[in-house]
Amino acid sequence: MATTEGRIPDLSVRIGEIQLKNPVIAASGTFGYGVEFEDIVHLERLGGLVVKGLSKEPMAGNPPPRLYETAAGMLNAIGLQNIGARAFVDEKLPKLRQVKDAVVFANIFGYTREDYERTIQILNEGEGISAYELNVSCPNTAHGGIQFGNDARSLDEVVTTARRISQRPLIVKLSPNVTSIAQMARVAQDSGADAISLVNTFVAMAIDTETRKPRIANVTAGLSGPAIKPIAVRMVYDASKAVKIPIIGMGGISTAADVVEFMLAGATAVQIGTASYWDPRATEKIAEELAGWCREHGVEGLRDLTGGMVAE
Ligand SMILES: Cc1cc2nc3c(=O)[nH]c(=O)nc-3n(C[C@H](O)[C@H](O)[C@H](O)COP(=O)(O)O)c2cc1C
Repeated sequence: MATTEGRIPDLSVRIGEIQLKNPVIAASGTFGYGVEFEDIVHLERLGGLVVKGLSKEPMAGNPPPRLYETAAGMLNAIGLQNIGARAFVDEKLPKLRQVKDAVVFANIFGYTREDYERTIQILNEGEGISAYELNVSCPNTAHGGIQFGNDARSLDEVVTTARRISQRPLIVKLSPNVTSIAQMARVAQDSGADAISLVNTFVAMAIDTETRKPRIANVTAGLSGPAIKPIAVRMVYDASKAVKIPIIGMGGISTAADVVEFMLAGATAVQIGTASYWDPRATEKIAEELAGWCREHGVEGLRDLTGGMVAE
């Protein structure tokens, strides 16, 4: 097998205008606002980090129990608890800006088009955000509660609005709970997204057979972790065939080989979520492991792997 012993592999990738030192990004909702991880993870060694989903006002989230471990996965119904966009800009962002070379993505959600609009306006005032990631897996209350990301018209509406207001690159984070991920990827691209990220969690549930009660107070919850990885890889592959903009892949990544698998399927970068619950240093460790993987496999430029799956 070829090796590049002694040479330092180039792990850098580009998401449009944004240069990342490696493709490993901490996923939204699993890494707080980044600053909470400062003492355990060298934030500057990550490709980037996505903060917890932000809304125009603070939100308390759902009642407990909100987390449940399943075979090879995790159910969560946190309910998008967050401190609100204003407090993020005033209290968290200044601390994040002190971390040299940290690439920060702000994840945004809302229940109406106006919610997204207002949140982006507040975040536009803050300095030190590289891009916005739009979480479209929320019910659109103005359209009978169907999720923005499950309906082409709602998706177009929210992405077009965000594009108009946003002073930063826009990543649209797609919901996997759709019939055709390729169609939704195309809608996001045509409505002005600079990149797409996928997947968010899969709607799922679990019941305690002793008490006959749901494991999660909200009854339904989002499934993440290794259990969803093969479906996520397939969705990244399908989306990559449908669009020209860069793709950030995620879903169950816990090793450097998992990162490579998503890249071969068509991802330019990846995010790591649930793995940080098992090991809070997972993101940094996987980024380190990637350099070793490249050396062992004679890969000098990691970015060359994107879309490189060899057809049968
Ligand atoms: C506890 C928890 C909270 C999450 N919160 C958010 C969120 O606020 N916004 C968002 O877009 N995705 C959120 N997600 C989804 C993750 O960012 C990611 O898309 C998903 O978990 C799949 O990746 P993984 O299998 O590596 O965890 C959350 C996931 C978990 C497990």
